[in-house]
Amino acid sequence: MRRRRLKDGVERLLAHREWLVEEPEKHQGLWSELTDGKKIHLEIGMGKGQFITTLAKDHRDVFYIGLEIKEEVILRGVEKAITLDLDNLRFLWKNAEHLDEFFAPNEVERIYLNFSDPWPKSRYAKRRLTHQRFLEKYQGVLKKNGEIHVKTDNEKFFAFSLNALRDAGYRLKNISFDYHNSGVAIPATTEYEDKFSASGMKIYRLEAIKPSI
Ligand SMILES: C[S@@+](CC[C@H](N)C(=O)[O-])C[C@H]1O[C@@H](n2cnc3c(N)ncnc32)[C@H](O)[C@@H]1O
Repeated sequence: MRRRRLKDGVERLLAHREWLVEEPEKHQGLWSELTDGKKIHLEIGMGKGQFITTLAKDHRDVFYIGLEIKEEVILRGVEKAITLDLDNLRFLWKNAEHLDEFFAPNEVERIYLNFSDPWPKSRYAKRRLTHQRFLEKYQGVLKKNGEIHVKTDNEKFFAFSLNALRDAGYRLKNISFDYHNSGVAIPATTEYEDKFSASGMKIYRLEAIKPSI
């Protein structure tokens, strides 16, 4: 499907630039100054922001950062944050490839990967956000016992992620092959999650704890 760009997306996003951290490299190792010492939870590929704005509204003691590469979708997240007047949420309009330039070791407590692009063709496997290449970046910024939480509708991407995390030494917990029918409370859903679960698709979920080596 072709990407629909908002004609004035960049302009509209930059009109709210106080919600963006435009040069995150400058905060590497210094994020606690921006977060007031709150622990950092980061959503990579946050899309239109329903998930992260819900969590930020309900957990004021955590500082949330939404990272997203497309201006037309991050703009929707920023608009939600403005409506909710959230002071514990900021956005990085950036590519996750550079994550290890934005944060120092031990700065991030949790990473959320929600409905990441599955890149089904094996020649593009390196682009998957749970590829070993990315796991090394996450390893470099997560705290001791930091966690990665993955949700997806894509069974093959889920199996790939599970294996990649296990091979990288992460301890896996709360693995669900049908999250929405598992009886657990769901603290927040994403836009993709609502669409897929409404059409009867299963949602897969896991939590992974950073290896201590
Ligand atoms: C399938 S969408 C899911 C959006 C949202 N998480 C949800 O569940 O509704 C994946 C999102 O990840 C973003 N994305 C993919 N690769 C990325 C990267 N390397 N850095 C930042 N964002 C990325 C895409 O732009 C897209 O908005």
